[in-house]
Amino acid sequence: MPPTPPSSTAGGADGPRIDLDEMRGLLRGVIDPELGSDIVDLGMVRDVTADDDGHVVVTIALTTSGCPLRAQIQRDIRTRLGSVPGVADVRLEWTEMTDEQKSSAMAKARFNVSQREEETNVAPTTKVILVASGKGGVGKSSVTVNLATAMAARGLKVGVLDADVWGFSVPRMLGVEGRLAGSEEGGRKMMVPHSKRVGDGELRITSMGFLVEDEASALMWRGLMLNRGVQHFLQDVAWGDDLDYLLVDMPPGTGDVQMGVAKMIPRAEVLVVTTPALAAQKVAERAVSMSRKSYLRVAGIVENMSAFTCDHGESYALFGSGGGAALAESSGAPLLAEIPLEPEVVSGGDTGQPAALGDGPAAEAFRALAEVVVTEAVPPLAMAGCTARMLDAAVAALDEADAAEETPSETAVDVPTPG
Ligand SMILES: Nc1ncnc2c1ncn2[C@@H]1O[C@H](COP(=O)(O)OP(=O)(O)OP(=O)(O)O)[C@@H](O)[C@H]1O
Ligand SMILES: [Mg+2]
Repeated sequence: MPPTPPSSTAGGADGPRIDLDEMRGLLRGVIDPELGSDIVDLGMVRDVTADDDGHVVVTIALTTSGCPLRAQIQRDIRTRLGSVPGVADVRLEWTEMTDEQKSSAMAKARFNVSQREEETNVAPTTKVILVASGKGGVGKSSVTVNLATAMAARGLKVGVLDADVWGFSVPRMLGVEGRLAGSEEGGRKMMVPHSKRVGDGELRITSMGFLVEDEASALMWRGLMLNRGVQHFLQDVAWGDDLDYLLVDMPPGTGDVQMGVAKMIPRAEVLVVTTPALAAQKVAERAVSMSRKSYLRVAGIVENMSAFTCDHGESYALFGSGGGAALAESSGAPLLAEIPLEPEVVSGGDTGQPAALGDGPAAEAFRALAEVVVTEAVPPLAMAGCTARMLDAAVAALDEADAAEETPSETAVDVPTPG
């Protein structure tokens, strides 16, 4: 293996230049699902190197070499780092922590578990997807609600967080209204998201639209939300430990909200929505570069309002063509779907019956998008659903470690095995 160059950038003058700091930043989005913390924080990332040809080698120290989550961690690292332009492949090398390192990782995990409530109330096993775009009106909200609905129809539990605090449209698009109920979790007041069953699955929905009733309360919330924005929805909503996905409908643009979410949930992945117009690509590129600057992985591109095919089979590219493919090319992220322009998307949004539940090309395209997201782009954590039990197990093991510290001969603690 070539020695690590002194600068944080690898690669020759002609070859790809791989920013090792960026690699480390992206690794912060890889969570050890059992311990609920990222692998950099836990001290699991030993080394990151890259050569001139874009071959990246990451050395990971596991708490135990037989760690059952090894495959999951490996897949997450590969998809995150592999999505960066210039990275040809990602190889993993494994080593095992010493007893001392293990104790310190466990202490860190325990600290994070105790702090987790303060950060967000989204379970570490929930996959978070931000639906973003460079500009408004390209169909972020339509893509969010239809993708969420198509995912729920597959039997998944999907949260929908309407982060468009000022221009919320999710309640109408999903046909849900009314105030959010409150609950108490460990002495803390929480909001309970609205729940909507879709087939065997479920949508859990929050939006400013469920908080404001009249002008006066809108004003009151406005003040609060100005300061805390979407953080409020991430911290004070009882999303549930069994939530498979949380889809966040981002407000237009690339401003503070995106920065805030990136900081709070660095593991979030981004779907960038763009229209087929080539001119729109430049604007959408801003959303991509913003995501990368925040070390968020761009999981894919969705082209919306693509050519509409009439009943006679003729195709009309009303908004041009090629924008999604061009953005995929320039960003290195895959083009996951081309959603046709179709009146059903508009009427579905107006009646609260998402087009994804019906028939026709747009419905099929949304279902195909759900399929590719769930199977390839952002697969759910295989172990979702047992988080609470595992965290309990982790905490119990840590308590044991505490007790053992009083007996100097026992210092090592094994990671509890989920089963
Ligand atoms: N595939 C489509 N076919 C037809 N109409 C669509 C399609 N996608 C979105 N629309 C319509 O375009 C308009 C804008 O869509 P939407 O509200 O989803 O965009 P947005 O990006 O969330 O906008 P904003 O930036 O204002 O939040 C809506 O009226 C919606 O019904
Ligand atoms: Mg919107």
